[in-house]
Amino acid sequence: MKLLIFIVCTLTLEGLCLKIQYNGDQVFKLVLQTKDQTVLVQRLCRELQLDLWRPTMVENIQTGKEIIVRVPFLFLSSLKEKLHHSFIPYEVIINDVQKFIDNSMVSEYRRSKRLLADFNYAKYHPMDVIYEWMVNVSQTYSDLVTMHYLGSTFEIRPIYYFKIGWPSEKNKKIIWMDCGIHAREWISMAFCQWFVKEILESHKTNPLLQKALYNIDFYIVPVLNIDGYIYSWTTDRLWRKSRSSYNNETCIGVDLNRNFASAWCSIGASHKCSDITYCGTGPESEPEVKAVSNLLRRHKADVLCYLTIHSFGQLILLPYGRTKDPSVNHNEMLTVAQKAANNLKQKHGTQYRFGSTSLVLYENSGSSRDWAADLGVNFSYTFELRDNGTFKFLLPEDQIKPTCEETMAGVLTIVEHVHEKY
Ligand code: ARG
Ligand code: ZN
Repeated sequence: MKLLIFIVCTLTLEGLCLKIQYNGDQVFKLVLQTKDQTVLVQRLCRELQLDLWRPTMVENIQTGKEIIVRVPFLFLSSLKEKLHHSFIPYEVIINDVQKFIDNSMVSEYRRSKRLLADFNYAKYHPMDVIYEWMVNVSQTYSDLVTMHYLGSTFEIRPIYYFKIGWPSEKNKKIIWMDCGIHAREWISMAFCQWFVKEILESHKTNPLLQKALYNIDFYIVPVLNIDGYIYSWTTDRLWRKSRSSYNNETCIGVDLNRNFASAWCSIGASHKCSDITYCGTGPESEPEVKAVSNLLRRHKADVLCYLTIHSFGQLILLPYGRTKDPSVNHNEMLTVAQKAANNLKQKHGTQYRFGSTSLVLYENSGSSRDWAADLGVNFSYTFELRDNGTFKFLLPEDQIKPTCEETMAGVLTIVEHVHEKY
């Protein structure tokens, strides 16, 4: 596999491996009709380490269900031959993954005028534009918003968060939201931007927000894994981890959502630094994770709710990932999640599932959601936004608006509940 990437790179840029590309990779949709076909495809997925988009795990491939999978260019012809041979019909839904990436976003990005009024919330924006947007927001809405330094990334970039709420003498409660722990989940960062815009533009007409901003401050981190996000724009659109370096720079990146101090690296995480779920050298070994943990620890008595935004899968996930045991507040959290999923569905009909992470998605340790629950935050949720595997992390820009609208409905359901309760 290493060799493969090397060949693809050298072909692309005259010996300079600046981009990991997905040139010629295709995405297939197939439906398996017999048990034999299912077993064969499971075996091929394992042997060729194909990138499964739906379902996410090989063991969940089922006869009669649709599966979506990305096939690297070099395996295409042999795979197609095998499918023909076993009478497995398939449809190519993305003809060239790298072209799809380039056409849909990165190379198309045009800088528009630098006014906040011109900011397009239905597009994905690179990090320098998001930094500038943050400054613009805090200047334009300085009565309601302040921008604060959270900490530094591994590559020494500043991480900022917004505090949004009316200034007050009394001790305000906190609702936390972070986006972009995982670099390639671009819809997550887009949602944080949308959420900020919505609060600022609609608080005067939305009775819930109007009340809430007197009692609560929203703490919002628009992009946590900034180094990774930049890398996903410049070099590898499907990069997930941070960009810290280990093992004499032979491995890059820690999965920040496995680095929190909650049953650290005990399950669903890897000690091997080249793995996609590498947990780091110890709990909070990563500066991005340390920064979040320190701030939340300081304010833990006031944090009503912790929300972390990811993609994909259309899920509202509860603690825990690290165990199948329910959290102390499980039943109430579940009721609220159900209500949120219902309200979300009202917008565009999108179906969400909800429940304990370990039961609904997979078991994983060291997540921020589990850690916040351990800290004593009564409502701690992960949102996995659209889609369901059709585009996976490459969610087209025309879905940003509907995704954000429906997510807004889900999030506000939770906000309403925790606000009423407190
Ligand atoms: N955001 C997810 C994570 O934190 C990755 C997506 C997995 N989604 C899924 N439906 N399997 O690991
Ligand atoms: Zn994620």
